[in-house]
Amino acid sequence: MIIPKICAVLFGDSILFVIFIKNRVMINYEALFKISYGLYIVSSGNSDQGNGFISNTVFQVTSDPPAFVICCNKNNYTATFLERTGVFSISALHTGASPDLFGRFGYRSGKDLDKMQGLNVIYGESTGVPIVLNDSIAYLECRITKTIDVGTHLMFIGDLVNSVILDDSKEPITYAYYRQVRKGVAPKNAPTFIDKSKLVNKIPSTTYKRYECSACGYIYDEATEGKKFDELPVDWVCPSCGSPKEYFYLLD
Ligand SMILES: Cc1cc2nc3c(=O)[nH]c(=O)nc-3n(C[C@H](O)[C@H](O)[C@H](O)COP(=O)(O)O)c2cc1C
Repeated sequence: MIIPKICAVLFGDSILFVIFIKNRVMINYEALFKISYGLYIVSSGNSDQGNGFISNTVFQVTSDPPAFVICCNKNNYTATFLERTGVFSISALHTGASPDLFGRFGYRSGKDLDKMQGLNVIYGESTGVPIVLNDSIAYLECRITKTIDVGTHLMFIGDLVNSVILDDSKEPITYAYYRQVRKGVAPKNAPTFIDKSKLVNKIPSTTYKRYECSACGYIYDEATEGKKFDELPVDWVCPSCGSPKEYFYLLD
C-alpha cells in the first residue's frame, strides 16, 4: 500500500497541500492525464519589450482578493519579464485557436523571435503588460505579490487587477481537448511533460507508419488518419503547431 506524504505550504490565509508519493516506482503516469487544466497564453513585460508562452498551469487560488497562480519554467524567456516587471496577463484561448499560436508560443522561445510581431496585442491600462487578443475569449491582468521557487519552475501568484470577456460564443480550450482532439503534446518545459517511455499504454505497433513532428511532438498515425503521410500535399502543416511537413520524421 502506498502512503502519501502531505506537506502544507501557507499562502496568506490559504494553505496549499503538496502530496509526495513515497514509492516513486508505483507512479502511473497515465493517471496524471486525469487532472484537468485549461490552456492560455501567459504574457509579461511592457510596451517596449514583452513575451509570452503557452501555459496549462494557470488557476485561481483565492477569491478575496481574486488571485491567480501561474507556473513558469526558469529557462523560459518569459521568466525574465515576470521577475523584472512583476506583472502578467492571461489570454484564455478557445478550442479553435490557430496552430500557429501554439507553435509560436508553446514550442518556440522569445529568445529567437519576436512572438508578438504581427499579432493583435494591447497593453494593460494599469499594468502596461502585453495582452494577446488573437483567438482569445477573455483576458486577465495580474500584479505579482509572491514568487515561489519549485525547482525547475517558478510559481508566480498575482492579484487580479482587470478582467475582460472578448467572445462569449466560443468554448475555452482544455488540455484534455488539446491532447485528445487536437493530438497536441506538452514539450519538456511544461510542468505536465511526460516522457513517453514512462507510459503504460503505449500505442500498439501496426503495419502503418507513424511520423512525429520535431517541433511539437504531434504524431501523424497513418492508421487513424486513413491516409499515407507521403500522400499528404507538400503545403500540409502540422495540425498542432503549424510546422511544415519536412519537420516530421518516421517513428518506430
Ligand atoms: C500544451 C502546453 C502547455 C505548456 N505549459 C507550460 C507551463 O505551464 N509552464 C511552462 O513553463 N511552460 C509550459 N509550456 C512550454 C512553454 O510554452 C514553452 O517552453 C515556450 O516555448 C516558452 O517560451 P519562452 O521561452 O518564449 O518564454 C507549455 C507548452 C505547451 C504546448
